Amino acid sequence: MRHFLRDDDLTPEEQAEVLDLAAAMKADPYAAKPLAGPVTVATIYDKPTLRTQASFAAGIAELGGFPMLVDGILAAIGIRESVPDVARILGRQAGEIVWRTFAQGNLEQMASYAGVPVVNALTDEFHPCQLLADLLTLREHKGELRGLTVTFLGDAACNMGNSYALAGALAGLHVRFGAPEGYTPDADVLARAAEICAGTGGSITLDQDPIKAAAGADVLVTDTWVSMGKEDEKAEREAVFSPYALTQELVDHAHPDAVVMHCLPAYRGKEIAAAVLDGPRSIVWDEAENRRHAQKAILAFLWERRGAHV
Ligand code: NVA
Repeated sequence: MRHFLRDDDLTPEEQAEVLDLAAAMKADPYAAKPLAGPVTVATIYDKPTLRTQASFAAGIAELGGFPMLVDGILAAIGIRESVPDVARILGRQAGEIVWRTFAQGNLEQMASYAGVPVVNALTDEFHPCQLLADLLTLREHKGELRGLTVTFLGDAACNMGNSYALAGALAGLHVRFGAPEGYTPDADVLARAAEICAGTGGSITLDQDPIKAAAGADVLVTDTWVSMGKEDEKAEREAVFSPYALTQELVDHAHPDAVVMHCLPAYRGKEIAAAVLDGPRSIVWDEAENRRHAQKAILAFLWERRGAHV
């Protein structure tokens, strides 16, 4: 059974195949109905959501399926019932399961017991659906992904940092992290990304100087400094990350045709200046729309392979 729990659950070739499928689905959104029936897809959110819930619901409907919302608070997975029990119950009701939760280990357990494909809709460790959307958006704006320089600024220790390392490596990107000491992606993720880069020609570099990290980059990316679940660290995080804010000055150091991305929600005046987020270089609304197309593609990809025990 194939799952999408982290970015490197796809090979470089499979990532490209999913992106091609996403582009085709975007061009003709109602043509492919692999979930006709309708097949039910269970979607569960243990953390706040807007884009993810809306884009999965709309995308599953476009695929001919039924998006079943399982209330994360009522289900209280892992508290009221164990993850393996919930997995076996949902796997008997739904053809695929989409889960946003805290620990990656719980998501892995869900995948072990569900008997149906499981998709990571964000954990503390990874946000692989967002990366598919980001790569789709970059292909639209920049063409070939391989060889692009993408600078991720700010809290690189979060799910987005880890996913940029892995998905960027798979796509053959040169990913630069402009992040303070202690806020880089996980060491084992960086080691895995380096292995992938050896095959794809990508690279990963860490730089504590935001200007050096941004210099000449094709793409500047940032994310909130206070990820969901870290709210009690808000004050100290704002102090640590303030030199890494994505300002117009940093944009001026990037390539003249550089684009700016942010997975949203954005905090104007914190990790990104309002003039940058709302300015001519920003492609964040395309990026948000592309969640739907990218997620349709990964759901269809997994559904097609649901019999395969890989
Ligand atoms: N790093 C952020 C991503 C939000 C989509 C968080 O986990 O809150």
